[in-house]
Amino acid sequence: MRTLVVNAGELAHLSNGDLSIPLKGEEMSDKGLNVYEKGMGILIEDNIISKISDSDELTMEFAPSWNGKESATPGLLVIDAKENAIIPGFVDSHTHLVWEGDRSNEMALRQNGMSYSEISDIGGGISKTVSSTRKCTKSKLIEIGIRNAENALRLGTTTLEAKSGYGLNLETEISILNAYDAVNEKTTCNIHSTWLGAHDIPKDRSKEDYIEELINMQLPAVLEQGIAKWADVFCEPGWFTIEETMNILSEARDMGLQSRVHVDEFVDSGGLAMATEIGAVSADHVACSNEESRAGADKAGVMQTFLPGTQYVLGASEFPPIKNCLDNSWAFSIATDYNPNCNTISMPFAASLATHRCGIDPIAALVASTRNPATTLSDLEFPLGGSLREGGEASLNILSTKSVESWCQSPGMNPIAITIANGHIVK
Ligand code: NIG
Ligand code: FE
Repeated sequence: MRTLVVNAGELAHLSNGDLSIPLKGEEMSDKGLNVYEKGMGILIEDNIISKISDSDELTMEFAPSWNGKESATPGLLVIDAKENAIIPGFVDSHTHLVWEGDRSNEMALRQNGMSYSEISDIGGGISKTVSSTRKCTKSKLIEIGIRNAENALRLGTTTLEAKSGYGLNLETEISILNAYDAVNEKTTCNIHSTWLGAHDIPKDRSKEDYIEELINMQLPAVLEQGIAKWADVFCEPGWFTIEETMNILSEARDMGLQSRVHVDEFVDSGGLAMATEIGAVSADHVACSNEESRAGADKAGVMQTFLPGTQYVLGASEFPPIKNCLDNSWAFSIATDYNPNCNTISMPFAASLATHRCGIDPIAALVASTRNPATTLSDLEFPLGGSLREGGEASLNILSTKSVESWCQSPGMNPIAITIANGHIVK
């Protein structure tokens, strides 16, 4: 099947330079480097972009009898972008895709002065979601995953990272990771899985005992089944300490599993420096990390992944210092952190927070939501998604407006008219 997208408005290709490394600093914001002017077209064959070129020339060559409505060429679908802007499909590199239950009562608790950890101490938070998730059948977990991946696709996300972490026992952690394989098969969204058995300590277990299970039961089972690409730990005072996190992640590393890790969400506990020492692919949250560890992480090639939706829902007094990374030319990404507390899987919303609240320009925010996170997800020589180029993955969003800058400036609204995910048009 071939699809020809004609009459593009501005087209954010984000394809300059070496695609296996993230863009940083001014390179992220430079429109000239990242965006073609209007008038281009894109030819897609199966799931690959085979040509990006002048729209009229592509039309002449591949759809000479196109009358502005239907393609008269058999096997070719023509989509008229009507001069609307085109951007790559979003790469959401931090989600908790599958969980069950409702935690909306926690808003009132927070408004009455309770913190995230205090709510967890009285049986809310992660452990409440774990109880509901453990009750789900395997097919229910798959159903939830498909529903959430389809919601993400409708908001323009064509690749996402999905963590386990609401099972906290061997059976349910494995079932969630198995569900991600099924979601990857059954939807047009690319799913990359992370084992987050160390998301919390089950209420009926000692921490020591549970860490023993993580290392000696869950980790070997995950590796044996090949159902996760990374190990993750919620490293934060009250959950797993720096030492415990290093212990779990170094065992994982020795057994062949790289890490991406939750650090420095509420306080600077040295989590980002630890993530750098362990060689994590990405350190996530990093809202409170110190400058020295940010510089060190960048030097070592550790991505800093900001999740501004978390500060938003928790009503934090400050948003993360994303602008600091842009100004210092340190590599960073933005992701949703979709979870029962931060219940949004919208990359345009996460990026609205980065632009409207954190001082990031829309082109840099787009790089941080596509090409940069793609570098942390691919185990291939170069990342497939996250940019638009000949030979690259056919995952893109046609916006409803002519300017690429509009993509993150309509919070609460969907800025996308048409999404193509791996060559398939999203309904
Ligand atoms: O990334 N902080 C740890 N995990 C999630 C929240 C989990 C939850 O509250 O259910 C996060 O923010
Ligand atoms: Fe998270």
